[in-house]
Amino acid sequence: MQDFTVFDSRQARHARLTDLRSDTVTRPTPGMYQRMQDAPIGDDGLDGDPSVRALEEAVAAMLGKEAGLYVPTCTMANLLAVLAHTQRHQQVVLEANAHMFTTERGGSLLAGLAYTPVEGESGAMDLTRLETAIRPGAYRIPVGLIAMETSHNSAGGAVLPLAHMQDVNALAQKAGVPVHVDGARLMNAAAALSVPASEITQHTDSVSLCLSKGLSAPMGAVLAASRSTIGLARGYRKVLGGTQRQTGIVAAAGLEALQTMCARLVDDHAKARLLSERLNAIGAPLQASRPQTNIVQVQIGDTGMTSHQWVDALETHGVLTRPWGERMLRCVTHRHIDDADIEHAAAAFARVFEQRVSA
Ligand SMILES: Cc1ncc(COP(=O)(O)O)c(C=O)c1O
Repeated sequence: MQDFTVFDSRQARHARLTDLRSDTVTRPTPGMYQRMQDAPIGDDGLDGDPSVRALEEAVAAMLGKEAGLYVPTCTMANLLAVLAHTQRHQQVVLEANAHMFTTERGGSLLAGLAYTPVEGESGAMDLTRLETAIRPGAYRIPVGLIAMETSHNSAGGAVLPLAHMQDVNALAQKAGVPVHVDGARLMNAAAALSVPASEITQHTDSVSLCLSKGLSAPMGAVLAASRSTIGLARGYRKVLGGTQRQTGIVAAAGLEALQTMCARLVDDHAKARLLSERLNAIGAPLQASRPQTNIVQVQIGDTGMTSHQWVDALETHGVLTRPWGERMLRCVTHRHIDDADIEHAAAAFARVFEQRVSA
C-alpha cells in the first residue's frame, strides 16, 4: 500500500514494491505534516521550544517518568542514558544480542566504559549469568548500568516478559545499579502485552522511545527518566552536538505519532503473523519465526543460497528484505504493508524457492 511518494528508482522497475526491510521506512502521515505546519516553535538550545517541551512531557507522563529529553536518534538516547548513569571506567552489562551491544557499543570508546555482554534467550539475559556479571569483587570493574531491550530487534521482535524485567530490576537494585531499557520499539512491546507502556517502564530507571520506527514520525527519540538523570543527559546532549534549534517542527510530528500511531501497531503484528503463516506454508527448509510483534525472521536453511543471494533474488520480484547473518532474512511489517503486500511477498519467496529447486 503506497500512500506516499517514493523517491526510489526501484519503484519504477516493479509494478509493486513491498518494502519489508524495516519499520524505519515509514513516512509521515498527513496529520503529521499538518502538525509540523502548525507547530509553535522556539529555540530549543536557547530558551526552549514549546513543541519539544510538549513532546518531552507527554512521553515522560506516558512512561511514568519525571522528565523527557528529545534527541535526533534512539542511538543518541541510549548513549545519553549510558553517560548520565555511569562514571568512566565502569561496566555496562547488557544482553549479548542487544542493539546497544551489537551496533552501538562504539559509544563505549567515547564514554571510557567496558560493555559486558550476557548471554540469554529470546532477548532475555540469563539471570544466573547476570548475577555473576554484576557481583562485586576485588579485581572487578564496578558496574555502572544494566541495560535491557524490548521488543528485541535481533530476537525477532521478542517481548521481554514483565516478570523477567522485574527480576532484572530487583537484582540491579540489590547491587545498587540503575537499569536502562532500549525501547526503540517499546510501543510494540506494550501492544503485544496489551498493557500501558508504564507497566513495562516501571521496571527501569530510564527508557528510550523511538518515534521514527513503527510510529512513523520522520525522526527523533525521547529519553525518559528522573529529573536529575535527564538534567545530566541534557548536558551530554550538548556535548555530542545533539542540541537543536527550531526542532519543534519535527517534535510536533513526534507528538502526533505518539497520539495516533500506538493503537494501530497491533495491525502490523497481525500482518507479521500472516506473513509467517504464508512463508511456513512454502515448507522446509524455509522456516519463519512465529512473531510476537512486527518482525519475522526467516531461516533459509539449506536452500543452497546465502541470505544475500536470497535478498537479491527477492528484489527482482519487487520484495525488499534484509540479510540477518548468512542463514537468515529479516522481514519487518509496518504501516505501508497491507494484506496484498503479504501475499506478494509470500509469492516472491515461493517463486525464488521454486527457481532454486529447478535451477
Ligand atoms: C532496538 C534498537 N535500538 C536502537 C536503535 C537505533 O535507532 P536509531 O536508528 O534511531 O538510532 C535501533 C535501530 O534500528 C533498534 O532496532
